[in-house]
Amino acid sequence: SCKQRNDGERTRKAHCLVLTYPTQGHINPMLQFAKLHHHKGLKVTLVTTHFLLNTLQLHAGSSKCNIALETISDGYEEGGFATAESTDAYLNRFWEIGPQTLTKLLRRMSSSEYPVDCIVYDAFMPWSLDVAKKFGIFGAIFFTQTVEASFSGGDEEILIPGLQLPLEAVDFPSFLCDLGSYPAVYDMVVGQFSNVDEADWILCNTFHELEPEARPTIPSMYLDNRLKEDKDYGVSLFKQNNDACMKWLNEQPKVSVVYVSFGSGAELGAEQMEELAWGLRSSKSNFLWVVRESEAGKIPKGFVEETSENGLVVSWCPQLEVLAHEAVGCFITHCGWNSTLESLSLGVPLLAMPQWTDQGTNAKYIMDVWKTGLKALADEKGIVRKDVVEHCIIEIMEGETGKESKECYEMEASG
Ligand code: UDX
Repeated sequence: SCKQRNDGERTRKAHCLVLTYPTQGHINPMLQFAKLHHHKGLKVTLVTTHFLLNTLQLHAGSSKCNIALETISDGYEEGGFATAESTDAYLNRFWEIGPQTLTKLLRRMSSSEYPVDCIVYDAFMPWSLDVAKKFGIFGAIFFTQTVEASFSGGDEEILIPGLQLPLEAVDFPSFLCDLGSYPAVYDMVVGQFSNVDEADWILCNTFHELEPEARPTIPSMYLDNRLKEDKDYGVSLFKQNNDACMKWLNEQPKVSVVYVSFGSGAELGAEQMEELAWGLRSSKSNFLWVVRESEAGKIPKGFVEETSENGLVVSWCPQLEVLAHEAVGCFITHCGWNSTLESLSLGVPLLAMPQWTDQGTNAKYIMDVWKTGLKALADEKGIVRKDVVEHCIIEIMEGETGKESKECYEMEASG
């Protein structure tokens, strides 16, 4: 409704700053949002930290990623989060320096050709709204995670208004239950709501059919309308070798490949990596496994060589393209919200192995509400054993679960 602004004699495009929290899982949905609005005729500028801008790999040929980029500071120009003394130290410094540098950016832009009219900011950074209000511009809070996970919390089985089923402790976002390990992250998660009532809009990265009962619990919601046929976010924080990956996939039969990825941040223990590796091997499925460079040392010795006939291990891949590929029949995932949404949108049944944050809640919904996959049962040490991995893969690739999920997707697709 406000694509055009009138500055005295001049009519210009409205200018929206999209302010991201600097991790892959938070950048992707906001970048998607930025591209969508750029295509709808707004001037959009994506803002991230200085360090991250220098790290971003811009994908060659991604024509859709021609939106402007600007930076603020998190106080760690040389190495970002990885060089901070602790998570607490990182967040404290970012929260002090971030608002100051955002203020400078807005001041500079106020005398430019396109002064900023609105800031859409990641819910993790509620201070952005305070800065926006000082400049008299609109502020929209953007929850990058599911509505269910963003608006729930507790430590016993409990039914929260707006949720579709009771949750046990294990299903809650982990930072809300495990207060001791990451106090600053707990504060950040709870802090999302500190001034939410003052935001001009509340935007959530979801769609109505997924979380129908959550909708009345928040006053307004952006119902996503993604760019059709867009199978590339356009940037990533990791180097990827698309050609090798897609060439290998093209050579695999239809619905024969198990795709495995734990997103950009989760770290599996060495024992869990081993169990997963041997489970993959004994399932005898073809597999494409993303193991980030920092995790590569945990791949069991001899595994890559032994499985080279039917498997490929890469350090990062074009996930949207992979999930859209007809060879892929199952996605073993940590249930990050982006991976979950991408898989649901592209009709790939999931094997959930949640690690932390919102992933337990997402896994619960995948198995018990949307019925689009299985959650792998962990033993008393919290480890999913190789026979469980093998059994679940076979159930999804050949059994009733896979069939039901696929029928479900086909029904949705045909209307
Ligand atoms: C984090 C949290 O862990 C997650 O739970 C939360 O919902 C969002 O922030 P992350 O762990 O990185 O995100 O997982 P996810 O949300 O799945 O995001 C990963 C993104 O990286 C996805 O968009 C996926 O398409 C992309 N990706 C992943 C690739 O492009 N290539 C890969 O090889 C792996």
